[in-house]
Amino acid sequence: MKKYLMGLFALVALLPAACTNSREDNPGFSRESTAGTNGKPDGQALFVQNCAVCHQKERDAVGPALKGVLERWNGDRSRLYAFIRDNEAAIAQGDPRAVEVKNKWKGAMPAFPQLTDAQIEAIVNHVE
Ligand code: HEC
Repeated sequence: MKKYLMGLFALVALLPAACTNSREDNPGFSRESTAGTNGKPDGQALFVQNCAVCHQKERDAVGPALKGVLERWNGDRSRLYAFIRDNEAAIAQGDPRAVEVKNKWKGAMPAFPQLTDAQIEAIVNHVE
């Protein structure tokens, strides 16, 4: 069952990457909208609104650079998404990467309980 779910996650994650070009070269991008033209959450807009004050893709800032983050979580999207939604809870539950990154940075990342899985997925796909 778990394997099936992971497969499903991988499939859902790969589909938009395969079908759409990067939004970076899209001058019509609007800061206000978090829904892309295809009705899916706009990862770039969500990233700018929620994460960019502390994170960059390529360089460490207030928080760590996020490019390649999925690999640092062993490709485990459910753990990564749980961390993004509530990092304190992930740390309290003893998630090894959550504890490691917290000990290294000692910063304070806020919780994002309002973000849906689809929105977090769009953000992660954007920074990857
Ligand atoms: C106020 C600053 C701040 C904001 C806003 C913020 N973060 Fe963070 N983030 C951090 C800090 C600091 C860390 C280091 C770990 C910790 O302190 O929790 C971190 C760690 C992370 C990590 C772990 C990186 C790794 O290498 O394992 C991920 C993933 C992450 N943030 C994603 C996000 C996403 C996605 C958003 C937006 C929805 C976001 N963060 C918003 C400060 C922030």
